[in-house]
Amino acid sequence: MIAEHAVAEGPQRRVVLISGAAGGIGSATADRFAAGGWNVALTDLDVPGLSDVAERLKRLDRLVGVFPGDLRSVSTCQEVVREAASASGRLDCLVSAAGVWTEGPADETREADWDRVLDVNLKALFFLAAAAIPHLAASAGSIVNLSSDAGIQGVAGAAVYSASKGAVTNLTRALALELAPRGVRVNAVCPGDVDTPMLRAQATDFGGDDPAGYLESLLQQYPQADRARFVAAEEVAELIWYLAQDRATPITGANLSIDFGISAGVQ
Ligand SMILES: NC(=O)c1ccc[n+]([C@@H]2O[C@H](COP(=O)([O-])OP(=O)(O)OC[C@H]3O[C@@H](n4cnc5c(N)ncnc54)[C@H](O)[C@@H]3O)[C@@H](O)[C@H]2O)c1
Repeated sequence: MIAEHAVAEGPQRRVVLISGAAGGIGSATADRFAAGGWNVALTDLDVPGLSDVAERLKRLDRLVGVFPGDLRSVSTCQEVVREAASASGRLDCLVSAAGVWTEGPADETREADWDRVLDVNLKALFFLAAAAIPHLAASAGSIVNLSSDAGIQGVAGAAVYSASKGAVTNLTRALALELAPRGVRVNAVCPGDVDTPMLRAQATDFGGDDPAGYLESLLQQYPQADRARFVAAEEVAELIWYLAQDRATPITGANLSIDFGISAGVQ
């Protein structure tokens, strides 16, 4: 594992570790925490993508380090948390934004797809959290998980992804209750369709010869009708940022929708 250490300017600066930090929501979250004066530790599978984000944070003197790895391995999750906490001397928040999408008929799902989606979206998220608990208990910190509107309701044709996110939603509640006596809060955000590389890859991989039509058909499901648009990664990052603040102290065990109402019910 490569670790690149840039700052550690004073014990008072709060520290966030972000998984999926090379991705759309993860990188926007890194920028938001850096703008808010926190130091940021980054992890992802995508090393070039991490370098771009790291460069921006370095210029702001907010980079704790880059800790790349495939988080499907439990030992990698543990190593990433250990190295990030040791480089920064503390950990105040863990944001789990690593994730993968799949869709397709259930009776055509291959075991490898099930394993990949559950291992990234659920297993990695759990074992990062587990490794972070002692550090977060020491700082009265918090965890913010990335669930989804698919963690609140089933999405036809995306049973595996829905299963992974439904599990994240309930894992968030259970961990919140378990960790409350230790002063650690645990919440999740549940975005609708967010304009990120994941959404664009979805359209390319599953939109056949009409990726634009795939995206348009998603927007047609929104209650805003012809005013519908995708959520911006920065809007999700703002909610994550809020949940990490002291003013969010009463909020734990929550799964907060940010989805233009798509999960609110039928129209
Ligand atoms: N984009 C959306 O519409 C949307 C909606 C709801 C929820 N989400 C969730 O938000 C989170 C972030 O999604 P995003 O849209 O930013 O996606 P993204 O594809 O832009 O970013 C996801 C990141 O996870 C990383 N990753 C994937 N597998 C990994 C592994 N094995 N180890 C380490 N890192 C790995 C990728 O390299 C990527 O940088 C995901 O959990 C996703 O399921 C996204």
